[in-house]
Amino acid sequence: MTLTANAALNAWLAEVRDLCRPSEVYLCDGSQQEYDRLIAEMVASGMATPLKKRPGSYLFRSDPSDVARVENRTFIASRRKEDAGPTNNWIDPDELKATMTGLYSGCMQGRTMYVIPFSMGPIGSPISKIGVEISDSPYVVINMRIMTRIGSEVLAALGERGEFVRCLHSVGKPLAPGEKDLSWPCAPIEQKYISHFPEERTIWSYGSGYGGNALLGKKCFALRIASVQARDEGWLAEHMLILKITSPEGKTAYVCGAFPSACGKTNLAMLVPTIKGWTVQTVGDDIAWMKFGADGRLYAINPEAGFFGVAPGTSLDSNPNAMHTIERDTIFTNVGLTDDGDVWWEGIGIPAPAHLIDWQGNDWTPDCGRPAAHPNARFTAPAARCPVIAPEWEDPAGVPISAILVGGRRPTTIPLVNESLNWAHGVFLGSVMGSEITAAAISDKIGQVRRDPFAMLPFMGYHVCDYLNHWLSVGQKADEAKLPRIYYVNWFRKAQDGRWLWPGYGENSRVLKWIFSRVSGEGHAVATPIGNMPSPEDIDTEGLAVAPEDMAQLLAVDREAWLRELESVAENYAEYGEKLPARLREELDKLQKALA
Ligand code: OXD
Ligand code: MN
Repeated sequence: MTLTANAALNAWLAEVRDLCRPSEVYLCDGSQQEYDRLIAEMVASGMATPLKKRPGSYLFRSDPSDVARVENRTFIASRRKEDAGPTNNWIDPDELKATMTGLYSGCMQGRTMYVIPFSMGPIGSPISKIGVEISDSPYVVINMRIMTRIGSEVLAALGERGEFVRCLHSVGKPLAPGEKDLSWPCAPIEQKYISHFPEERTIWSYGSGYGGNALLGKKCFALRIASVQARDEGWLAEHMLILKITSPEGKTAYVCGAFPSACGKTNLAMLVPTIKGWTVQTVGDDIAWMKFGADGRLYAINPEAGFFGVAPGTSLDSNPNAMHTIERDTIFTNVGLTDDGDVWWEGIGIPAPAHLIDWQGNDWTPDCGRPAAHPNARFTAPAARCPVIAPEWEDPAGVPISAILVGGRRPTTIPLVNESLNWAHGVFLGSVMGSEITAAAISDKIGQVRRDPFAMLPFMGYHVCDYLNHWLSVGQKADEAKLPRIYYVNWFRKAQDGRWLWPGYGENSRVLKWIFSRVSGEGHAVATPIGNMPSPEDIDTEGLAVAPEDMAQLLAVDREAWLRELESVAENYAEYGEKLPARLREELDKLQKALA
């Protein structure tokens, strides 16, 4: 096959074509015409519904079984089991390839094999990397065009000898001659495989059309494979938003934030500050790739070009900038369709219409007892449409990071904000972060916390202990004074009676302001056993409707709760096994002693 100038790519394309036996092979150029043609074909086949109320926008409904990432069908098939570690599913790579080769054999019959060259990060940036996704799903092509940079320009950057990550995807539903296609083809759950071969920098995904399983640039490449590349090459590939904050005096700082899925990353990335004169702009909402610049600072790029956000709960109140981003040119998946051709979901902030078509294509009324949108319904929208996108969001050099936030949903114990004492202490905080499994629970039963180091638990391409060790070693090699400071934040504290102690959303700008003052070398903090914390007066509370007692509770160190917390951390560390970096165990011991 001589589709491209890259011989290694051509050889791989021929190999996959011979295995999957598509009826045709199509190389994507990434143009608007190509995008429009694919959409028109999907509208004609009934897979996509144009939305009369939103120009350039379309609704897709997935198969009801194919609505989310499938963590129990996600595999890190490293050569050695111990390299995948205790938190990943592992299958021997030869065995997995044999099984999947069987599944791939003839799997694209009756379909087109699309070849999607893509760049994670601005084309040509020294931090960016190139991948090629082969997929038999036109839905994947159009979503990849929004979420990454695709097409001819990428092939030109790849050149004759450039390296690329091989990303193979099939929905796993071959078509017999004359067989009518389904509107969302996919394979049954036991045939779904989201597989990563870290040493070969290769991804094989089979049986799912859902974003996180099928748009292979995102979780599979930019996190799981890239985390391995980052370990080997001395940088960081992280599940983090990137935001820019500007003070009334025009001083700026860039902040990254790691939060588990469904903890409001997109909302924080697009936050509208409630404090006068401050602005927040978005660089990215889900993934950050960070490398050291010549000046010794860590620079981050957003490797993505779009947002794949959760629709339910997104409203003009919770995230006006996201709502404006998705006014047009957006792909919606599994939301409700109103009779006048618009979208609707739970928490959209406008009353439910008397009738709509739900995410499964059925008539829906407000009293029917079912949600109109799937709770994991999504929008795919170009980042460039975001009204607060930072002008430098595509700067190939990246943006210098001053602070890294880590946090999750914790109704008790974890204060509003806590600054690490140094890099290793920050890595300790990142290693113990977690989220309540149920947001409704306020008892903070320790067992209900899912520890999720740096929000990377489902996304590490290798052993969790090696991952934490890599974080420590990044700090050892750097000039500590130039490293970002790490902050453990918690917007989700509740009072005994179950009410939220902190209003969250735009009010989080008050915490960002304190962090900004700290990284500028000005802000005041008090030393506590867990780290440096603001006293209530250090947080700008002008115009904030939070009672002083609540503020005090938000910023208190509850020693007993923390000691219980650390017991649970110790249990969690024990599950990670022998390889846990000694330095983290030391941090744990030190903190236990300080609190006792
Ligand atoms: C996501 C996730 O889709 O974290 O971003 O699951
Ligand atoms: Mn995510």
